Amino acid sequence: MKPTSRNFALAALAVPGVQAGLRFPCSTLTIQRLDPVVQPGVVPAAHVHHIVGGNAFNATMEGDVGERASCTTCQMSEDFSNYWTAHLYFKHPTNGSYHRVPVLPVQPLLGGSQGAQGGLTVYYTQFDLSRDNLKQQPVKAFQPGFRMTVGSPTATSKPHVGLRYQCLSGQSRGREMPDFPDKPCSGGIFTTHHFPACWDGKNLDSPDHQSHMYNSISTDGFMNAPKCPSSHPVRMPQVAYETVWDTTKFNSMWPSGAPNPFVWSFEGTSGYGTHADYMFGWKGDSLQRAMDKSECFYDGCGSIKKQAMAVANQCAIKETVKEQTDGWLVKLPGM
Ligand SMILES: *[C@@H]1O[C@H](CO)[C@@H](O)[C@H](O)[C@H]1NC(C)=O
Ligand SMILES: *[C@@H]1O[C@H](CO)[C@@H](O)[C@H](O)[C@H]1NC(C)=O
Repeated sequence: MKPTSRNFALAALAVPGVQAGLRFPCSTLTIQRLDPVVQPGVVPAAHVHHIVGGNAFNATMEGDVGERASCTTCQMSEDFSNYWTAHLYFKHPTNGSYHRVPVLPVQPLLGGSQGAQGGLTVYYTQFDLSRDNLKQQPVKAFQPGFRMTVGSPTATSKPHVGLRYQCLSGQSRGREMPDFPDKPCSGGIFTTHHFPACWDGKNLDSPDHQSHMYNSISTDGFMNAPKCPSSHPVRMPQVAYETVWDTTKFNSMWPSGAPNPFVWSFEGTSGYGTHADYMFGWKGDSLQRAMDKSECFYDGCGSIKKQAMAVANQCAIKETVKEQTDGWLVKLPGM
């Protein structure tokens, strides 16, 4: 079940002092064809990504990212990780031109967007959305150099339950769907990417960038993931991204009854190809400290350092790939 504001309110009342983990906004850092996880060193990479987080982001990222970065677009100022997904484009149903879909900050149910610009909201949950369970289930933070992906641009079947779309309208997020909405959404398209939470305890990466992790989520990404298997025994934070794609200005160009005109930047007309990348970059033991305590609920954390989003928004990197990715395009960059 997707959380509603009512669920949150009830949970907060029922379990005072028991907290759920980190949840915070990150503004857009850059929109470019770079992918240091799947295509390290390749400039430009295959398709356009929407990237948030620390300024150590580059085509190649080795070693301790948290030591190399000096600023981050995320609210948690010790978090120099990078988080990215493919970018969403509109494909004009009659003339075939493409236009980048703007990104809006997620309006969290509590606290508003806090001045984020575009970007996405990141979660690190310890147990589920309203509780932790640290005595029974300690959570181990990722190590420097750790990276992973979830989902695949070439997927042809329904992705796992943690990869979902919602059709926003007014205050409603609508039901979770495994594919793009089939009609215009007056408030935009909401995407969620949940990563697996079980680690093999040894590898910071794997050839497919996924097999060092194991997904045990089967019902909802915001529930506690079922027990980790012996092959991947180490419980990690449950990482999730939420992104709002502002599709509204394209709705009038979507003829009634025509198929979904939104495509992922890899020419992904099927929503099944939704995927996301994670590059760990928290400074020192800051993430472990956050995961060892019951002190964070949404962005309300005790000892974890935060910055104003006005400061986060000033963090920037240079464009490495100099090409046009916005405006009307005859083809998608790289395609
Ligand atoms: C990015 O990587 C290139 C080599 O691929 C290197 O020359 C450059 O200094 C790096 N930039 C940053 C900001 O780390
Ligand atoms: C397609 O339609 C859009 C919206 O009307 C327009 O701005 C764009 O230039 C058109 N592309 C071509 C190739 O005609």
